[in-house]
Amino acid sequence: MNFLLAGVLLFAQVPQGSVERGQKVYQAKWCHSCHGTVGQGGERGAGPKLAPNPFPYAAFAMQTRRPRANMPRYPAEFLSDQELADIYAYVASIKAGPAAKDIPLLFVMHNNRGYYQEVMHLQRMASLHKRAVDTAWVGNVIDRPAVDFAKLAQAQGVWAEGPVSNPAQLGPAIARALKVVKGGAPALVDVVCQAR
Ligand code: HEC
Repeated sequence: MNFLLAGVLLFAQVPQGSVERGQKVYQAKWCHSCHGTVGQGGERGAGPKLAPNPFPYAAFAMQTRRPRANMPRYPAEFLSDQELADIYAYVASIKAGPAAKDIPLLFVMHNNRGYYQEVMHLQRMASLHKRAVDTAWVGNVIDRPAVDFAKLAQAQGVWAEGPVSNPAQLGPAIARALKVVKGGAPALVDVVCQAR
């Protein structure tokens, strides 16, 4: 009997919310600016991911009303109980995206192995200040050694080929990659191009 009562109370604590309204309030009250438009988490650690599988409602509401650390506080004058319930309904409705390995996406890297605009800027600044220009590559050139992006992708379970530096090999490499993409998986071709 007690268990039943506890169950009913717990159920009663999740108020009815509207997914549609919640999506609007989520934007209007700026949740998205830190947590991402689909609760995926914000850039540069602005806010943790909220969905899929958000906190239970009681914890979600407590964090919103009385955040545990850096999040701004949302008191009832600013966000009503109904709006909070709507936001929760929206966040709870967000489904998990497909796993990265199941996204048919073709990456063709235009890999110049450097941050060459920065190299040129540093050279310009060095001559302006009458310093040697020959160290401008430090930290800006990615070829000592060149990073093997195909191997990096393969390490994440992604089909990849490269580095391709011979134009004759490019067409066949892209054709092989497309076959993988059409099969429903991501593929990467690392194509080395002129530095600048
Ligand atoms: C200015 C950025 C910012 C905004 C705006 C913001 N949050 Fe947060 N949120 C955070 C940060 C940072 C945390 C991590 C805990 C903390 O600092 O309190 C957090 C944590 C949370 C958590 C707990 C999730 C976890 O895994 O820790 C929930 C739930 C949450 N926020 C909901 C919301 C809702 C709902 C809104 C809008 C009404 C909102 N937040 C607006 C920054 C933000």
